[in-house]
Amino acid sequence: MKNLFLTAVCSTAVLLLISGVAPKAASGSLDAAPTQSVTPSVALSATPTPVPTPTVVPTPTPAPCVREMNFISEDPPEDVLIPKYYNSLLEGDVHIYAFTDASGKVARRAYGSLETVWSDGETEVVSGFFEVDEDCKVISNTPVELESETYGEAVVLGESITVKGYKRAANGVYYFKSAGGIKHYRVYASVGGVEGIYPCDKEGNVERGALAADLEQDKLLMSYQVISLFVGDAPHVMLTAPTKTTLINMNNRLEASYVPQGMVAVSKHVHRAPFTLRNNGTYANAEALECFLEMVNAAYAEKGFDTFYLCSVYRSYSTQKELWDYRVSNNPSYGTNPLVPIGSAYPGTSEHQSGFAFDIGTLKHKVLGSYLANTAEHKWLAENSWRFGFILRYQKDKEYITGIKYEPYHFRYVGKELAEYLYSENICLEEYYDAPVRWVNVE
Ligand code: DAL
Ligand code: ZN
Repeated sequence: MKNLFLTAVCSTAVLLLISGVAPKAASGSLDAAPTQSVTPSVALSATPTPVPTPTVVPTPTPAPCVREMNFISEDPPEDVLIPKYYNSLLEGDVHIYAFTDASGKVARRAYGSLETVWSDGETEVVSGFFEVDEDCKVISNTPVELESETYGEAVVLGESITVKGYKRAANGVYYFKSAGGIKHYRVYASVGGVEGIYPCDKEGNVERGALAADLEQDKLLMSYQVISLFVGDAPHVMLTAPTKTTLINMNNRLEASYVPQGMVAVSKHVHRAPFTLRNNGTYANAEALECFLEMVNAAYAEKGFDTFYLCSVYRSYSTQKELWDYRVSNNPSYGTNPLVPIGSAYPGTSEHQSGFAFDIGTLKHKVLGSYLANTAEHKWLAENSWRFGFILRYQKDKEYITGIKYEPYHFRYVGKELAEYLYSENICLEEYYDAPVRWVNVE
């Protein structure tokens, strides 16, 4: 929250009293003098009794004037729709939305509440997007009407760009990488009639109302790449036909097009064991599913557990990419620090793409999290899943070996023989293959 100045006293109040915010004041030109406040009309009684009218000259009550105006900026609440073509910028600690308008001018907005304190002690508050100047000072006293915003039309011109560090992609599109290997695309275009270098998507499309690229900022972003690591750039081999014992991780990946053969719909087998399936569209490796059902039945027979909640098994490359993109959108440096193990595998590095990984929650704890380690069901799984060919894949004390943070709910089917061995030796799959994850090649 930040008070973006706007403090006014009566002498300057008129400027801030124009229509909308100030029902007590007359609307009019900016330098009009404040006029009398509006007096509500009084209803006449049916049979008016004539009363001698005293000839008292009413003393005009001075119109209340503005004592103070304060603008408090804040992030828009969740139910407030941020216009699609507003580009969100952080200036200092103020969140600004900017765009190139239809006339080619850069328009700037801040979301917040404008509080008006009147000389008679009343206070009014109005919230919305307000116009702000380059110093983030509010320059409108009413919220902008979002439907009236005009956004500059974007026309891609595609001329060549000679900015140091930009690499040419295709069709006049350029890009550079920043921390986390994130690619930023640029193209020569015109928005609202203003020509320049604009951000675009990888096909070169520029959004209406886009802001010209800030070349100094681009330079800074590029410099981060030099010192950063990125899990997506880790050395790796591509796996062709993964089996139940195959190591799948950041160094051993599946092609984007890889879809396992012969998976089965889990929904057709839910009647065979007491558990709940989150999503009827879930597919799994057939052998792994048989062992999962065996495990659930054993848990029921031995402990009476009928509360397992199967969240996720097979996930396509594109679903994994959506999860990954979501993580990165929340945290652009996601997957760039080997000391911060990751929770969503980089696309192509997830065991879920093989159909051998089962994410198991409970009916009480449907959201997967590390707290599941404390449930009776998960304590039992951790101790017994090996009997059915499963391993607790991402253990707490192996995070730097697997590259993945502790996940007490993720069980990988590796077959009974290997599962028993890994459990008895207390080693993870990377240790078994003598291949802890590598972020970079070290000779
Ligand atoms: N959560 C695990 C690591 C995955 O995304 O495959
Ligand atoms: Zn999982």
